[in-house]
Amino acid sequence: MNHRDVKNPFLFEISWEVANKVGGIYTVIRSKAPVTVHEFGDRYCLIGPLNYATAAAEVEPEEVTNWSMKEILDGMSSQGIKWMYGRWLIEGAPRVLLLDTNSIIDRLDSWKTDLWNFAGIPSPPNDTETNDAVLFGYLVAWFLGDFVSRERNKAVIAHFHEWLSSVAIPLMRKRRTDLTTIFTTHATLLGRYLCAGSVDFYNNIDKFSVDEEAGKRGIYHRYCVERAAAHCCDVFTTVSQITAYEAEHLLKRKPDGVLPNGLNVMRFSAMHEFQNLHARNKEKIHKFVRGHFYGHYDFDLDNTLYFFTAGRYEYRNKGVDMFIESLARLNSRLKQSNSPMTVVAFIIMPATTQSFAIEALKGQAVTKQLEETVKDITDRIGQRIFEKAARYAGGNIQQAVMDPKELLTNEEMVLLKRRVIALKRGTLPPIVTHNVVDDATDPILTQIRRIQLFNDPTDRVKVIFHPEFLSSNNPLIGLDYEDFVRACHLGVFPSYYEPWGYTPAECTLMGVPSVTTNLSGFGCYMDETIENPSDYGIYIVDRRMKSVEESVQQLTNYMLEFCQKTRRQRINQRNRTERLSDLLDWKILGMEYVRARKLALHRAYPDSFVDDLDDGFDHYRPKIQRPPSALGSPRIRGSSFSVDDLTEQIEDLGIKMQNQGEEEEDEYPFPRIVRRRSRDSIR
Ligand code: UDP
Ligand code: G6P
Ligand code: GLC
Repeated sequence: MNHRDVKNPFLFEISWEVANKVGGIYTVIRSKAPVTVHEFGDRYCLIGPLNYATAAAEVEPEEVTNWSMKEILDGMSSQGIKWMYGRWLIEGAPRVLLLDTNSIIDRLDSWKTDLWNFAGIPSPPNDTETNDAVLFGYLVAWFLGDFVSRERNKAVIAHFHEWLSSVAIPLMRKRRTDLTTIFTTHATLLGRYLCAGSVDFYNNIDKFSVDEEAGKRGIYHRYCVERAAAHCCDVFTTVSQITAYEAEHLLKRKPDGVLPNGLNVMRFSAMHEFQNLHARNKEKIHKFVRGHFYGHYDFDLDNTLYFFTAGRYEYRNKGVDMFIESLARLNSRLKQSNSPMTVVAFIIMPATTQSFAIEALKGQAVTKQLEETVKDITDRIGQRIFEKAARYAGGNIQQAVMDPKELLTNEEMVLLKRRVIALKRGTLPPIVTHNVVDDATDPILTQIRRIQLFNDPTDRVKVIFHPEFLSSNNPLIGLDYEDFVRACHLGVFPSYYEPWGYTPAECTLMGVPSVTTNLSGFGCYMDETIENPSDYGIYIVDRRMKSVEESVQQLTNYMLEFCQKTRRQRINQRNRTERLSDLLDWKILGMEYVRARKLALHRAYPDSFVDDLDDGFDHYRPKIQRPPSALGSPRIRGSSFSVDDLTEQIEDLGIKMQNQGEEEEDEYPFPRIVRRRSRDSIR
């Protein structure tokens, strides 16, 4: 092997979700880009699939400036391969190379045969996902193989995410490509499938006959790809301890470390801007609710709380079953206690739909008409009042002031009545906002029917199932997902299978309390990190040690407890939740990636290093104590090392930390900011 510079390596990060949004992996790569670009600059490039439907909006094409790359890509073009190179239009503007797998489809059969011959991995004909994985894998191995044979001075790190992008790993191992590889799995295929069924997963994790179980579920070939990648990479990682444990049993390799998922934390210059945004966006949900519940809009929006769950439609894995059951119980408890509160619970999960439901559109239309009519009439009343008053030229002042009884003309009265009559409705407000193709068998709808949460006026918990991701162009809830989350009071994610779970993490950044579980990577991470997470608006349902019934009760109690908070308590809790943001910042969590890369270089080029490396690299475990006492600098578990020390280390790398060590009183709206720079830890 050539002697390569390991101090200034090239980094390629490869994923099916580069500039191609599917789920949380897109969020990992996108949100991490700024810190990685900061560290690697032009030596960093992402590789993903070329999806023509979205690429134009995601990427700005640009000339290839690296000569090796240019030669390789020109060579690929001459063989009919289509690609796009440019800047991903996100913060950090990283370079991306998108490869069009369809442009090389004529090689599919020969590459599949090769995969079978050298690795014994079968690939059945009609699995398009596996076909894509094979085409993409061979293209990536082609590109990287050519790249390292041209760029011979610097080491190259290839970091792959998830099985779909990972075929290149065993392939390059077989070809002895001179680079080092990291494979991060964000789940295990088999784990996800087993949990989605009715298996008692965690109690049997060490007993499954993995090949057989994968075979029974028709995913044996995909499982083989994943397992081959896990075994052929130099460094194998997952996103949480719980998935590391799962990978050890199901993929038969203990991960070298855990790379927890961070977020790109951006702070508002005004401390409480996020609170204002909550109030502003909540108005938009109010507007939707007035329309949706027309004819039954008899509850007080000032005493209404918005709960939601959202994500890919994985009914059992994402814990929607538990959420709905707990909502039914919350409904009874609120009714029993004559609570003044109403909860509107949103379920945002894409299912196959035909169109928006007429009834849902009608609700928005009739309230909009009413609103416009009222505005029109009040404008005219205003004009008449003004006209009359302006004509005053002395004398009896009463003649210049409109008699309140004459405010409305007969014509206006009739118009208003017509609009009000249009609000009469013989049906209950719909549960679902769209026409769902499998309406009769859809698991969410079936459960709602069974527990009879039908948006009856007597219900204190109302349910709205929106089977499509949100966007500001949506005619019903015209909010992008982020603004919708800000508008809500509580995110509820009682997942059964969740390697990390970005949705509650994103809530935290926006200062929105959330429910998670101790079966989610995020939930476990927060549990290990914070003394009493619920104080900070992180409610962790125990789905590990408790029975399903007990977990449902716990979730119901959390939601009920939340409903009993005063507005002031909710505002304070949001402030505390938002304070946790720094824990999730890539500027801290990205350090684990730094370590993983160092380990990968060490393993591939041991002779280039003089020091020995401690192989495990997931050391950071700050534990935060209970509020409202001054929070100080959280201490790293098991050492005298604090986040301030960590901050300094990170700042040494040239990355600027924001707000570290800042604290505020547990009061609102006039917080006193105390700049805390002491290195003393509070424990
Ligand atoms: N998401 C979204 N729109 C929605 C609901 C979710 O864009 O209406 C995003 C969300 O912001 C998150 C991702 O989808 O970043 C889901 O990631 P998570 O890790 O929670 O779950 P995954 O889908 O990867 O299992
Ligand atoms: C934010 C706003 C306040 C508003 C409050 C409502 O904090 O800054 O002006 O009163 O939200 O909170 P709630 O929990 O009732 O939606
Ligand atoms: C996977 C997991 C999810 C995780 C995401 C990013 O899709 O289902 O829990 O947050 O990857 O790592």
